[in-house]
Amino acid sequence: MAKNINLKKLISQMTLEEKVGQLIQLNGENFTKSASEITGPVQSWGISEEWLNKMGSTLNFPDANTMVKIQKKHLENDPHKIPMLFMMDVIHGYRTIFPIPLGLAASFDPALVYECSRMAAREASAGGVNVTFTPMVDYARDARWGRVMETAGEDPYLACVMGATQVRAFQGDDLSDKEHIAACVKHYAAYGGAEAGRDYNTVEVSERLLREDYLPAYKACIDAGVRMIMPSFNSLNGVPSIANKWLMRKVLKKEWKFDGVVISDYNAIGELKTHGIAPNMREAAKIAFENGCDIEMMSNGYYENLCSLVREGVIDEKDVDKAVYRVLKLKKELGLFDDPYRGASYEKEMALALCPEHRAIARRAACESAVLLKNDGVLPFSKDVKKIALIGPFADSNEIKGFWSCHGKDADCVTVLEGVRAAMPDAEISVANGCSPLWNEKSTEGFAEAVSMAKEADAVVLCLGEPQTYSGEGNSRADIRLPGMQEELAKAIIAANPNCAAVLFNGRPLALTGINNCPAILEMWFPGSEGGNAAADLLFGNAVPCGKLTMSFPKEVGQCPIYYNHPSTGRPKWTAEDVHQRYASNYIGCGNLPLYCFGHGLSYTKFEYEAMELSGTRISAEESLTVSIKVKNAGKYAAKETVQLYIRDIFASTVRPVQQLVAFEKIFLAPGEAKTVTFTVTEEMLRFYDADCKHVSEAGEFVIFTGYADHRYKEARFRLD
Ligand code: NOJ
Repeated sequence: MAKNINLKKLISQMTLEEKVGQLIQLNGENFTKSASEITGPVQSWGISEEWLNKMGSTLNFPDANTMVKIQKKHLENDPHKIPMLFMMDVIHGYRTIFPIPLGLAASFDPALVYECSRMAAREASAGGVNVTFTPMVDYARDARWGRVMETAGEDPYLACVMGATQVRAFQGDDLSDKEHIAACVKHYAAYGGAEAGRDYNTVEVSERLLREDYLPAYKACIDAGVRMIMPSFNSLNGVPSIANKWLMRKVLKKEWKFDGVVISDYNAIGELKTHGIAPNMREAAKIAFENGCDIEMMSNGYYENLCSLVREGVIDEKDVDKAVYRVLKLKKELGLFDDPYRGASYEKEMALALCPEHRAIARRAACESAVLLKNDGVLPFSKDVKKIALIGPFADSNEIKGFWSCHGKDADCVTVLEGVRAAMPDAEISVANGCSPLWNEKSTEGFAEAVSMAKEADAVVLCLGEPQTYSGEGNSRADIRLPGMQEELAKAIIAANPNCAAVLFNGRPLALTGINNCPAILEMWFPGSEGGNAAADLLFGNAVPCGKLTMSFPKEVGQCPIYYNHPSTGRPKWTAEDVHQRYASNYIGCGNLPLYCFGHGLSYTKFEYEAMELSGTRISAEESLTVSIKVKNAGKYAAKETVQLYIRDIFASTVRPVQQLVAFEKIFLAPGEAKTVTFTVTEEMLRFYDADCKHVSEAGEFVIFTGYADHRYKEARFRLD
């Protein structure tokens, strides 16, 4: 009977209070603690037990047992037996943690991203989660912003691919399949445009740029069928997203016809008061509701005001019914009316958590996300080394899972020491912290011990980085160098033993000029549960690095924001290395180029781009072009390469980016093997938003090239008629 439940009929039987309850979301602890134990806003709102029983959803709860307890009690008390929805931030894993999204995007491997998200959905659904607040597809260019770790980086196309892939993986084809959960795309819109990279900061972006770079990824997720969307905290062109009519009503509802559930971010409706947009919570609730926000997360606008707003005739009850319908429809699609627990159990949750199959995926993901920034030939280390020194604050640290790790625990993460021990059982391994990774700890007391260890060793691994809490929500940095005394430590160690490689753990691009004389630098990001094993695999050649940067690494923080797809300027700085003449007047001292640019990433093998052939020299709306690129593995290692395809529109009515990634494919090549990758270029790919915000393509000449942002391996030209 439940499958055929008539939602409209059900809604007609509900009281106004019961309907409003469906539109409120509270933290899990509110349902498990007794009224006297609850602190924080809920206590101050004075929510009665009777009201708690009406609430339609919750976020953040520890495990399946808690979900079962909350759901059971709820169903006992709800006369309509409408199950609650359980939501969580399952961002890069549930209990088994894979690399942070910025790292995983560097794999340039949608199939791997799919596999990781499937694994997360499987674990999370067993733990009682019905909806994840993922994917985060905010387009980001400023490495100072701590939440770049949750993004796919500085390319809008990549954000579309990675976001849509996650939606498909989490939701599957049939949401009632209990191993899948609903996804919620966030943070709509342009949260990543925070001025100066300060979290929650104001965003001013022209409509043209919004449509061109910021909005496509949210839209791609909607096209992929995402069931929920979360407006962002920031004000966008003067109006906070949830109050922004243009964003919510015009674009989301009218143009995109989004008919899923809109959920506020945590207390975002309450923050309309702090923004100075609403004088009180009644007004805040009215504004948010009228802009299409269905569920209010963790503020008391709807709870205190929605019923009276309806009774006073300010809000039409029919609109409340529509919002409730959207929420109940999601519950129905998830199969909650048939099985309010969706087959979740603590036993199932524990059996899946960190199971060998999931650890293997996490290890592979950590290997494929790593980016070899530099290698003067020291890596991979020989497997014959006898004495290995692991030096630095991350040598024996399990604090490498990264922010937003859901139920992941540091204790579950394999350290570099553990990984290297397992990979090199016969080697003598010494370890020293050398110094602290905290920005305000300046002691060099540990240097002497670390230097003498380095001198004794055959190979040295410098394990450096940022503490996990230096990136993620609310964690912006004005100085994005390695914090504390790590640069000084690195200098001393490199001088003591040049057979040295740095392995980095961090949640954003760093300004690495201070350690760039290190013979090799391997960027591991926050790699998750299997980080140490993956680092050892890569250091000793059991795996070959294949990640490519999805955000440029500046030389100095003052270059931020720095991104490869910069608009052409009228006075480009011409330098021999700056093949794209891409930036305006030069920074004195450090120039305009990043230290490591988008798309960069080395391998242990050598790839040769032998040929690029176009099927013709013209494209039209009717006729596309194929581009074939032949790549050969001319080195000794079997390895993967991401073939990247870029376009530059030479002349248009609006200033175009100096280059844009339009396609990519990751291939595997055995030594000596060659493969041809074929891409199709269509007129649609050449469209852009003109000065009137019309999505157009214009006739003219285009450069097409393969390589990466600063390096063209092969290039050609074609015309659009
Ligand atoms: C605030 C964050 O901005 C958002 O990303 C997250 O999903 C919610 N809190 C819920 O935890």
